[in-house]
Amino acid sequence: MNHKRASGLRLAGAALAAVIVVGAAACASSQDQASLPHGAPDARSAVQVSSSLVPVEYDLGLPDWTPPPLEPASNRLTAAKIELGRRLFYDVRLSADQTKTCASCHHQDKAFTDGLPVSPGVTGDLTPRNSMSLANVAYAPVLTWANPLLHSLEQQALVPLLGQEPVELGMANKDEELVRRLTAEPIYRDLFPKAFPDMGGEISLATVVRALSAFQRTIISVNAPYDRYRYGGDVDALPEAAIRGEALFFSEKFECHHCHNNFNMNDNIVHARAPHPEIAFHNTGLYNLDGKGAYPADNIGIAELTGRPGDMGRFKAPSLRNVEVTAPYMHDGSIATLEGVLDHYAAGGRTITSGPKAGVGRNNPLKSSFVPGFEMTADEKADLIAFLLSLTDRDFLKDPRYSDPWKQGTHP
Ligand code: HEC
Ligand code: HEC
Repeated sequence: MNHKRASGLRLAGAALAAVIVVGAAACASSQDQASLPHGAPDARSAVQVSSSLVPVEYDLGLPDWTPPPLEPASNRLTAAKIELGRRLFYDVRLSADQTKTCASCHHQDKAFTDGLPVSPGVTGDLTPRNSMSLANVAYAPVLTWANPLLHSLEQQALVPLLGQEPVELGMANKDEELVRRLTAEPIYRDLFPKAFPDMGGEISLATVVRALSAFQRTIISVNAPYDRYRYGGDVDALPEAAIRGEALFFSEKFECHHCHNNFNMNDNIVHARAPHPEIAFHNTGLYNLDGKGAYPADNIGIAELTGRPGDMGRFKAPSLRNVEVTAPYMHDGSIATLEGVLDHYAAGGRTITSGPKAGVGRNNPLKSSFVPGFEMTADEKADLIAFLLSLTDRDFLKDPRYSDPWKQGTHP
């Protein structure tokens, strides 16, 4: 197996050692959790993890039913920090050749995904996996598709910034240049001191990742028609088909809810009202290259990091919020449509008939028992799709609080 490529955690050690990254090492709780052998490759050994998690007190304007997210006690949200983080998220100065930003792969109108199966970084390297939505990422106790060790947004931001396999933004060993570029921008000479009075207003990788994380914790989507119907008491918010689809989704016949069950429609969550994190990874039978459950070598799920053969093909269930606009689907973007995803589950795993990825996913011996396959009528399929479409939060997709702040004319 190729540790270098699939872990997404190859970082420039020297650059990292200088950064104190905040965040808590949450304890995994679910039975389905990965058990990690001592000495497994671990980003935390390269960065100093400190601080505990506390409920966000900054006013995010959440409806009553929405639990407040947690944040590191050493990186509390403030208006100035969020504004700075939003600038940085959309700033080309964060990439080696000043052509890309975080938003290059995380577009707001696609719920912060990019519409591609996998994404190119500044050198043309492709990410091994599909770009993920950032909606409600503040509630995620583990980040990315298959990394049980990556707990904080502060740590995660270092991966696209400094990662070398693949290169995304390509800033490894370019800290000084980054600081020089940021210092030259008058807006930052104002914003860093306002955002980080406790750190002397310093412009550094440490403050950059803190501000990026603060902004990302505010990217919250809780106003889909389904939210208004289910939590807001608006019985007219959903069409009949979506209401029927909800019942199917939560039924024992279709089993979807076993893995897509919390208010983000997955089973990875932590927040102020449930501070003990739920963490899980599943194999849904997308591949079976050798009849023994093998997935393609560059995407074997958490087995990459745990080293346990049984963890082959186990990935995080993504949130289904805004799933209408986050195509293509699955960890490698290998299913183009929601209909295709439903066909995969109905078959109890995908069959690929030819080529290097050929195999019968239904017979994958490592597949979750909650993906047994089912009969699905055309009406049931249409209802399930109507339900999934009711998870689209149109206000979120154009909420000015998350849009590109440089577009007002101040960008170079
Ligand atoms: C070249 C494309 C690309 C760029 C640039 C990029 N990302 Fe990502 N992002 C991805 C991909 C692909 C994933 C899934 C990674 C994986 O599973 O290995 C991801 C995952 C994430 C996640 C995890 C979300 C979750 O639900 O677990 C966060 C958070 C994130 N990115 C934030 C950022 C930030 C902040 C930046 C800028 C510093 C950034 N990204 C730049 C492609 C990109
Ligand atoms: C055993 C747990 C489990 C069950 C049951 C399950 N899912 Fe999933 N779901 C996952 C995981 C894990 C992924 C990502 C798999 C991958 O990429 O390898 C996923 C991916 C998806 C995606 C793609 C989302 C995206 O952004 O890529 C959709 C849509 C989806 N599931 C809908 C459903 C529906 C509808 C059902 C019921 C018919 C269902 N799921 C049942 C765990 C599950």
